[in-house]
This record gives sequence, structure tokens and C-alpha cells, in this order.
Amino acid sequence: MRSNSCIIMAEDSDHQDSSQLSITEQLSSEYHTVFKDKDLIEPDTIVDEDRIVGRDEQLNKVINIVKPALHGDQPEDMLLRGPSGTGKTLIAGTVATKAIKIGQKRDVKMEFVEVNGKHKKSEHEAIHQITHEFEQLLGLELTSKTGVSTSSRYDRLFEIVDEHLDIGIVILDELDLLVGDSRNKNEAPAFSDILYKLSRAKRIGKMDSSFTLIVTTNSPNSLMNGLNSRTASTFNPTEVAFADYNATELREILKHRQDAFYEDTLVDDVIPYTAAVAAQGEGDARFAIDLLREAGNIANRREERTVTTNHVEEAKNQVEKNYVVDVIENVSFQKQVSLFAAAVVNKYGQEQLSRSEFLSDRSAPAPVAHTLYKWFTDYQNIERRSKHSYLRWMRELGTYEVIEVNRKGRGNERGVFGEYIFHNLPADVMVETLVDKDDRFREALDDEELIRSVVRNNLKDF
Ligand SMILES: Nc1ncnc2c1ncn2[C@@H]1O[C@H](COP(=O)(O)OP(=O)(O)O)[C@@H](O)[C@H]1O
Ligand SMILES: [Mg+2]
Repeated sequence: MRSNSCIIMAEDSDHQDSSQLSITEQLSSEYHTVFKDKDLIEPDTIVDEDRIVGRDEQLNKVINIVKPALHGDQPEDMLLRGPSGTGKTLIAGTVATKAIKIGQKRDVKMEFVEVNGKHKKSEHEAIHQITHEFEQLLGLELTSKTGVSTSSRYDRLFEIVDEHLDIGIVILDELDLLVGDSRNKNEAPAFSDILYKLSRAKRIGKMDSSFTLIVTTNSPNSLMNGLNSRTASTFNPTEVAFADYNATELREILKHRQDAFYEDTLVDDVIPYTAAVAAQGEGDARFAIDLLREAGNIANRREERTVTTNHVEEAKNQVEKNYVVDVIENVSFQKQVSLFAAAVVNKYGQEQLSRSEFLSDRSAPAPVAHTLYKWFTDYQNIERRSKHSYLRWMRELGTYEVIEVNRKGRGNERGVFGEYIFHNLPADVMVETLVDKDDRFREALDDEELIRSVVRNNLKDF
């Protein structure tokens, strides 16, 4: 039966599309793209010095701190802090790369490695990656990640630096996101232990050689508040602050990348327009560059020869959604649980929300979201934190524009309540994202009728 119907369908479609080009013809037809050198606008490309616009003060500071390494002295540790897309990683990477080149000429053995806290689940994984990358750079035998203790990973790292380098530069990027899987609220996050062990090894002179830490963070408060007291007393970095860009700066940054496109493909006002859109948001250069690249991708998909402001406008939605998904995937599990609770209220409460006089179908009332948080922590036997923490995490997610946080009145002076609005990303997409991320969310949805009735009963009583 099944194969028969397949054959019929195939014959059918063959017949209908007889005018269509064959696979070979399609593959060998002319290839059209607006990009001449797309690498220039890919997210993780560390561009050359001549494409860096401004940031003189930050560059000078970082250069002056790294410089002693070229003269056999130990540089201080650094904390580059500021909002996302303000050039922290770019400047750390560019200065480190240049320093190593100069080091080579002067016979100073230097290397740098970078690990991003966003992509590492534990202290062990992070230290392993740092060790592994040094091993690769230096052509050493690669040691195994599993079957060895975390402390022996540290020992191996110190041994490598000591034997093969004068100075190792370790960039700990977005370190505040490396919280690890500690479920106990009295335990410090993973980054606190990493900073303690790395800065202590330097202090007590475990090695003849040394390394320097360049830490970056978009959220200096999460980082500094997460350090336990012993780390706070050993890790004393020099801080370098990065602020948002304005439209003029963003325009300059984009102009220095326009050769990513073939000449005359960007219509006149695309760059100023893209810069203005990005400046209206957060002043984030990553967002500006992503917008321009997505606009180019849209033009390519439609086989159009030029990129226009309409493409940029369309790209905006897509890029914004990707950003929200990226934040959701990378915040701590407790924040994910908090968000999940609010999103299921919206998803399963649609009918009641849209019928209510004072609620909207794009929102979830905070008191009900918090009740669902409690329900979920019981259901999955997860540590439950205070209501105060719940509200604070949701406000933080508000500052990342994952949701919008509002105060709302019930009318007739019956009091006000907090409300979470799903603005950039619909609640059901959020639920899907989280379900893909952690099985505990999926399990809660296995019994959809149960969760639906919990939501409905709580909305009814609200
Ligand atoms: N001053 C600048 N000049 C040129 N490009 C920049 C500048 N600042 C940021 N960028 C670019 O913007 C993007 C985001 O910068 P990045 O350093 O990753 O930001 P952060 O680490 O602060 O989040 C990267 O593609 C980077 O090359
Ligand atoms: Mg960065």
C-alpha cells in the first residue's frame, strides 16, 4: 500500500513539473550571492586592527596591562565589563593575538586560549578545554578529559604553562554564565572556584612561568556577587568598562565591513538605516552586524541583486527571535524554570486570558506564574527558591528583553499585580525551546491535561 501511493505521487509530481530544471541543471546553473567575503560579518570573526572603530581608551588600557608580559613581568588580571556587543571579546582577542606575534619575534613564549562560559557546563569542562587548547597549540600529546579528576586537570594546565611558556593568556569569556550544575544554594557558582584556583596558583607561585586572566562579562553584578569570600580576596582584576555604541559609531563599524558585500549591492541608505535600528535597541554592534548579514541572506534567498532597507526590516524580527532563544538557552536552570512557569500559563491559559477584562492573551499574571513555578519545582523535585528570587529573575529576563515586565491594575481599585508579556518570542515557542533544552520540562508536558488543569484552576481563582 505504502510504496504504491509513493509511486503514484512521484509520477504525479513528475508530470506536473515537467518544465522544471533537472537536479544537474539546477546545481550547475549560475550561482548568485551578494556576499564577496561573508567571513567579515560572521559572528565570531576576530577582525584585523584596521577594522576596529574607536574604543581607544579601552584598547590603551588593555594594551598597557598586557605589555609587561613582553618584558618578562606578570600582567595583572583584567575584567572587561559592559553590555553585549560592545567589543569586549574583539579587543581581548585582538590584543592577545598581536602580543603573541611580538612575543615570537622577541623570544618570549606566549600563547592565548579562550573559553566561553556560555558553552561550558562545569568547572571540569572549562579547565579541560583550556588545557586541551594549550596542548594543541603547543603540539603536545592530548590528555583525556574523562577518568581524571578536576584537580589533576588543573595540575596538567599548570605543568604545561610552567614547562612550555613564559606566559599564558587565558580569556574567560562571558564567565558569569559558567554557573555549573550546583543545585545547592549555598554552593558558589562554578566560575567562583575557577577564578579562585587560577588566581591562587599565580599568587603562591606554583610555577616559574605565569598566566594572566582576561575575564569578560555582560553582567558584572552576577559575576562579582557570585564570588565567595575566598575568591573575592584572591581575584582582584583591573576593570575596563565598555559602553553601548551610538548610531554614528555603529555606522562607522558597519562601513568598515561593507566590503563583505560586492560593490553596489548595498543600496545607499542600508548602512545608516541598520545602524539606526541597532542604536534604537541596545547599541549592540553584534546586533547591527547580524542584521546586515541576515538582510544579505534574505536578498540571496530571493535571488535579488541588492540589499535594501526592507530586507533589514525583515531581518530584524528574525535576529531578535534568535537573540531571545540564545538568552533562554544560556541562562541558569532556575531562571529557565521561572520562565517556563510563566510561558505555560500563557500557553495553556489562552482561552481564559483572552476572555478576561483585565488580562491579555499575550501575557501571564505574575502571581499565577509564581504558583506554576512552585508546582513545577514540586513536580520535578527541584530546589524551590523564594518568591523574591522568582520576581528578581523575571525582572532580569525583562532587562534582556526575553519578556516585558509590567504592573497592571484590575480596575475598580481592586489592586495591582505584575504581568509578564511575551513580546519578542511567543510563549509556545519559548516552551518548545525549553523542552528541547532539558528533559525535566519535557516530562512535565507529558501529561498535558494535568498541566492544563493546573493553569486553568489557578487562572480561574486569580
Ligand atoms: N569598536 C568596534 N569596531 C569594529 N567592530 C566591532 C567593534 N566593537 C564590536 N565590534 C564587532 O561587533 C561584534 C560584537 O563584538 P564583541 O567583541 O563580540 O562584543 P562583546 O564581547 O562585548 O559582546 C563583533 O563582530 C565585533 O567584531
Ligand atoms: Mg563577548
